[in-house]
This record gives sequence, structure tokens and C-alpha cells, in this order.
Amino acid sequence: MRELGVIASNARSFEAPLVVFKDAEAFVKEEALVVVEDVKFKRRYLGVLRLVTKLDPLLTTSQRSAIIEKPEIASEGLDIPYEISYVRIIGEISSGEVKPPTTPPTPRSKVYIVESPSDIKLDLGGGLVIGIHKYSGIEIPMKPDALRYHIAVVGTTGTGKSRLVKALVDEVLEKTNWSVVIFDHTGMDYTPFWTSSVVRADEIVLDVDTIAEGLRNTLGYAERAVEEYVPLALVKYIVCKTNQQLCSQLERSQLALTRKQLEHLTLDLSSKKMWNTSELIKVIAETATKLGARGTTSQKLSLYISLFAEQYVKRLNNMSKTVDELVERARRERVLVVDLSYIETETRRVIAKRFLERLWEIIAERLEPVNTLVVIDEAHNYACQQGCWPSNTLIEKTLREGRKWNLGVVLASQRVLDFTPDVRNNVNTVFFSRLQTPYDFDQLRNFVDLAGVRPESLSLLETREFFFAGLGNPLKYPMLIKVREVAEPTRRACQ
Ligand SMILES: Nc1ncnc2c1ncn2[C@@H]1O[C@H](COP(=O)(O)OP(=O)(O)OP(=O)(O)O)[C@@H](O)[C@H]1O
Ligand SMILES: [Mg+2]
Repeated sequence: MRELGVIASNARSFEAPLVVFKDAEAFVKEEALVVVEDVKFKRRYLGVLRLVTKLDPLLTTSQRSAIIEKPEIASEGLDIPYEISYVRIIGEISSGEVKPPTTPPTPRSKVYIVESPSDIKLDLGGGLVIGIHKYSGIEIPMKPDALRYHIAVVGTTGTGKSRLVKALVDEVLEKTNWSVVIFDHTGMDYTPFWTSSVVRADEIVLDVDTIAEGLRNTLGYAERAVEEYVPLALVKYIVCKTNQQLCSQLERSQLALTRKQLEHLTLDLSSKKMWNTSELIKVIAETATKLGARGTTSQKLSLYISLFAEQYVKRLNNMSKTVDELVERARRERVLVVDLSYIETETRRVIAKRFLERLWEIIAERLEPVNTLVVIDEAHNYACQQGCWPSNTLIEKTLREGRKWNLGVVLASQRVLDFTPDVRNNVNTVFFSRLQTPYDFDQLRNFVDLAGVRPESLSLLETREFFFAGLGNPLKYPMLIKVREVAEPTRRACQ
């Protein structure tokens, strides 16, 4: 290992100043991994460099210098400046393991830079390898147990969050027996990587309230008429189009339907492609009139639906899969990508909620761990404080209670700030990169121990560079990693 310098006075067990040797200055970098050899007490410490500083005792800002009159003398003293830095101590190395530091390194102990994994033998346990330490190249595996304690990946757009999650999912599939359900918000981040494991969200059967809500959003017609009459009209449409016996029971108000039965009938209707705008309008108008709506209300509803909702109604014919069967498929085939890009954001939240709800139903039925990781990308749309209902409720429940049943969540987002406090408090491993605003940094600081990482160091990070912090990190200390290469998805021949 290359010598960098020696520990100076005022060394503490968590941080020690370093005076850099003149010919080693070029190798001193923020976040470089170093080893401190304390020969006096036969101890070795592992640390990272922080606050690299160049000093010139003859050129301070508080004392007048002759240079201001004679600029030419500046270059005469080029050998005078020297460099210092701080070693942020991660721990003491003992038989390859890194233990919490108990005593400070002795001043004058030599400091060496770790430039390659062969420089040092460290036992970091096995685990999921998402990346390597940026300067030493050492793999820092994530403990698999961290999956059930939930993970957040945050950084501004383009930092490489979705690729990091892809690397994580690959490792989960290869090295654990967990299944993974991925919600692909854009349909471009995960769908191209697992083309044979994708389900389009418009193929998933929706409940009547969600269909009615979607219709209301499509119409942009906020009158209560849609809320009041459409759900009932939808039940009637679904039942009467598919089952005459149930239809007559419904008309006599003698029908008690379960959610499952209605889902089954909805599927039947869609499989026969019987969603038809003009027929649906007829049923809605009849229902509204029967329930005492004014004539103009029925007319308005009919007109708006025929004008604006034809595509929406037609698309309901695509519904052919239940969430229950998709969850089973994910558990059987181990990975399922839900391409949410085909449907409106409000409906995406309902689908995410339904998947989590189903997983909790399975837990309640079988009372055994489900070993499932749920990936929610662009998570500020699903786990925010305001406007994320109903997905936020189930995400919060999962974050609070999922660990017991091996139900973990990965949230990737540009904004920490939007997460509800319950979400933030229950995420235990965090990958963070460049952030959108300084305020995001303050929020991050509230829920993860940054151990002296400063906002300025984040702003210098490049694509694929993340700090890896929290429970999953075997060093229990934020480390700068470069995420492993996740190549572009191979395009299919027809594209
Ligand atoms: N690990 C990686 N391997 C190879 N290329 C990467 C990697 N990470 C990022 N990139 C490159 O950077 C681009 C952006 O990465 P990615 O889509 O993961 O960013 P993001 O943080 O999810 O952005 P957004 O917030 O817009 O979703 C990728 O298209 C790819 O070209
Ligand atoms: Mg992304």
C-alpha cells in the first residue's frame, strides 16, 4: 500500500488529522479508503479521507502578504504549501473484521491508501453486491437481511437510481430465494430488462370504485353525479351483461355480491369484449333516473361520457388478469414487472395498493413469511404525504410491519421530502447521490446517519456514484460506491 502521511496531534477515536507527505499529495482524495498502522499499540484502523485541505503558513487571508505588491514572488514559494486531511475512522481491523474503534490512533502512526482490493483482507460477509468502493475497488456487499428492513434510493434525475435498483434486483434473484414485484412507473426503466415477466397495468382487473374514479378523472367532470350514480350503474352493467339470474336478483334488490364474485364477472365481461360506451351510457342514465337524478343530470352524464370516455370504456375490455393470480405468478416465477405506464396515475396507486393488500392477505391466511421485495420507482407518486391515497396507507403499513414477514420495500425517488414520516422512519438502508435541493439534504440527515458526509461532497458525485448507508452496509458507515455496470437492455429483433 502507498504511504500517504502520518496522523497528527488531536487524534480521536472517530476522527484523526493527517499530515500528508509531499510526494503523496497527488493520491489524497476525498472518500479514499485508508489504513492507519499504529505500531506503538499494534492496532490497525480503517478509515476514509475527508476535508482534504491545502495550507500555506506564509499566505493566510488574515495577514498582509508582500505578494499583493509583487505578484512575481508567488511562484518562488511554491514548495511552502502543504496538505492535511482528516481520517474519519470506520473501525479497528482485527482478524479481517472491522470492529467499532475504542481508542484513537497514536500521532505519528503511518497512513496508507487502499488502492485495490488485494491491498487489504477484509471480511465484510457475503451479500448482494451492488457496487464497489469508488477508489479502492473493494466490494461492499449488502446484507440480505436488510431487504426486510426496507431500502430507499434517492438522488436527482439521471443519477442512476433505476439502474442501481436493477442491479439490486439481479442480486436478489441470484443470491436469495425472494421474489420481486416491480412497479415500473414509466414503463421504460425495468420493462425492457424483463420482457417475458411484464404485465401491462391495463390488463389488470379493476374494482367498480376504481373504474368509476377513472371515469370521473377522464371526464374532468367533478360533479357528484359520477360518484353517486356511476358505481351502482357499473355493478348493474357488469352483472346484467354477464349473468341474467344475478341480474334479476339485483333488480329485486336481493343480491349480495362479494368482491371476488364481482371481480369474476368483470373479468368475464372484459374477456367477451362487452364494454361498450353507448350501452354503458344507457345503464348509467337509467340508474341515475331511477335514483331520482334530474333529467339534465342524466343527459349531461350521457353526453360527457359519449364525448370524452369512449377510449376509456373501450380499454376496459383489456382487463384479463386479477391481482391475486399475478401475485401468485410473481411468487412462482420470482419476478414480475407491472408496467404502469398504460394507465392514469390515480389508478396506478390503486394497483400498487391492491398488490400489497394481496400480499398481506396471504400473510394473514398462511401466517408465514412471504419473502417478497416490492420495488416502487418514482416513489414520490405513491408514498407521499398528500395526494398519494390509497397506496401510501399500504406502503406505510408494509414499512412498519413487513419485516416480521419478510416483506420488504425498495423506494426510489428524486425527493426525500415527499415521503411521509412513517415511511422515512422505517427505511433502514439508504443509497443517496446528488440531491435536488439543499432542503432534501436536511431531510435526509433526519433519517440516516451521514457520519460527516457534507452536501458539497454530494454535489460532486457523478452518475452511478452513491453513498451506501444504514443497516445493510457491513461497515455500518456511509461508503461511496460506484454501482456496477448495468448495460442497456438488449433490444428485440423486431424493434
Ligand atoms: N449502473 C449503471 N450502468 C450503466 N449505465 C448507467 C448506470 N447507472 C446509470 N447509468 C446511465 O445513466 C442513465 C440514467 O440512469 P437511471 O435511469 O438509472 O437514472 P435515474 O436516477 O433513475 O433517473 P430518473 O430520476 O430520471 O428516473 C442510464 O440511462 C444509463 O445510461
Ligand atoms: Mg429512474
